[in-house]
Amino acid sequence: RIDHAIRPKRLQDYIGQPRVREQLEIFIGAARLRGESLDHTLVFGPPGLGKTTLANIIATEMGVGLKATSGPVLERAGDLAAMLTNLEPGDVLFIDEIHRLSPVVEEVLYPAMEDFQLDIMIGEGPAARSIKLDLPRFTLVGATTRAGLLTSPLRDRFGIVQRLEFYNLTELTEIVTRSAKLLGVEAHHEGAVEVARRSRGTPRIANRLLRRVRDYAEMKGNGVVDATLADAALNMLNVDHHGLDHMDRRLLLAMIDKFDGGPVGVDSLSAAISEERDTIEDVIEPYLIQQGLMMRTPRGRVVTRQAWLHFERVPHEAAIEPQ
Ligand code: ADE
Repeated sequence: RIDHAIRPKRLQDYIGQPRVREQLEIFIGAARLRGESLDHTLVFGPPGLGKTTLANIIATEMGVGLKATSGPVLERAGDLAAMLTNLEPGDVLFIDEIHRLSPVVEEVLYPAMEDFQLDIMIGEGPAARSIKLDLPRFTLVGATTRAGLLTSPLRDRFGIVQRLEFYNLTELTEIVTRSAKLLGVEAHHEGAVEVARRSRGTPRIANRLLRRVRDYAEMKGNGVVDATLADAALNMLNVDHHGLDHMDRRLLLAMIDKFDGGPVGVDSLSAAISEERDTIEDVIEPYLIQQGLMMRTPRGRVVTRQAWLHFERVPHEAAIEPQ
């Protein structure tokens, strides 16, 4: 896929997340010097910020292979055993959505992470046997939207824990500019800024919007992405000037119109907009909270004054400022 071509492959091409980059440079460099594999690494943060990209970069920088799977795919202990016994020494095993591992699979993962031992029961009843196997040393890279979703025994087995943050406008503009170059799109600086500003702080969204803006430029313009064209394309795509998409607006407007701005519990919101609670918590809310449009309080979710003003409403008298 084209996506593959625009993902950075080395740490030095990875834009933003300066703390993550600085730390990984040190840990990877030190592991390489000692000729060891990198410690198990947990990467967490909202979707689209580059968790998978980082796993691939870690493998490339360590000069090892990567095998990828995900929590929901590993249904049985045997599924994980198959992955583990298929690893080459030093390989990265990438498990996306690692918080969705079943408890039995997690049990198999503990000794594998800690002692590079596979310890598994085969068969059932009187014929059941336990087998133990030595595994090659490997680096588990786990990805999840929230570190708090992991059981603590699993979280405790990661030597390196990195949190990804939303990207700022400068970083996202740099990402859009880089992607435009790789895709062969002519983009003015102001055009790239406009795409970046409306991408929810998220590279995956920026790259997706860039492709759609390019389509628009080729069909409705002369193929060049300038600020005016980007604005027209993004308006057509229903991305507002704050970068809020349809779901963001639905959530905020439900809080304003149905719950008088809150406080409202997440389950009531989930019912009001027919969206799963997990999607609200992991995908929609983090950016709105980071932007100061809503808050989580002990009594429930509330929108801030900014949210009322964003929709050109008169703020509820109790409406609060974000801290
Ligand atoms: N594409 C997606 N995420 C990126 C990042 N952090 N740096 C550069 N290009 C990217």
